[in-house]
Amino acid sequence: MSVSRYGGESALEIGAGSGIILKVLYESFKIVAGTDIDRISLKHCKDNLPKDVFLVCCDAASPFRYKFDLIVSNPPYLPMRDNEKKDRAIHGDSNGIETTLNFIKSAASVLAENGKMLIVVSSFSNIAKIDELTAQMKLKKRVISEKKLFFETLTIIELRY
Ligand SMILES: C[S@@+](CC[C@H](N)C(=O)[O-])C[C@H]1O[C@@H](n2cnc3c(N)ncnc32)[C@H](O)[C@@H]1O
Repeated sequence: MSVSRYGGESALEIGAGSGIILKVLYESFKIVAGTDIDRISLKHCKDNLPKDVFLVCCDAASPFRYKFDLIVSNPPYLPMRDNEKKDRAIHGDSNGIETTLNFIKSAASVLAENGKMLIVVSSFSNIAKIDELTAQMKLKKRVISEKKLFFETLTIIELRY
């Protein structure tokens, strides 16, 4: 994710996973926070990131009341196939898209007035649902980059008020 060209006071990653993006954010932002629903991911982040990165095990951005200048996320988006065991790292809720919608709603509530949100979206995702939500929330959308893989296209969208 091309986060290195963004700067500001504070940044949040929702679904921090390995913490690799938090590490990049830490180079450009004074206040850096990451959330994940998975405790093992957060333990890995805690062991590998500077001690002043705030790490919270929670749903999306739910505990924060603070407003961030940049919020980034690569949400899990795949639908679950029949009899498949849910893996929160890759499977989104409902038909895949619900987790992305939850992350956008939650992020919007802690986004600074001039802040920006970067979300990774797959061509497998129901992009119309994202467009519907962002229109309802009066968020402006811009495509930042697109990467075609042999089986899907990954797009980074920027959302702001
Ligand atoms: C595709 S991975 C992100 C990987 C991460 N960007 C990295 O570079 O390692 C999605 C992450 O979202 C987390 N996640 C899933 N549901 C979540 C939720 N409701 N709230 C917070 N994090 C969640 C997963 O545990 C997983 O770590």
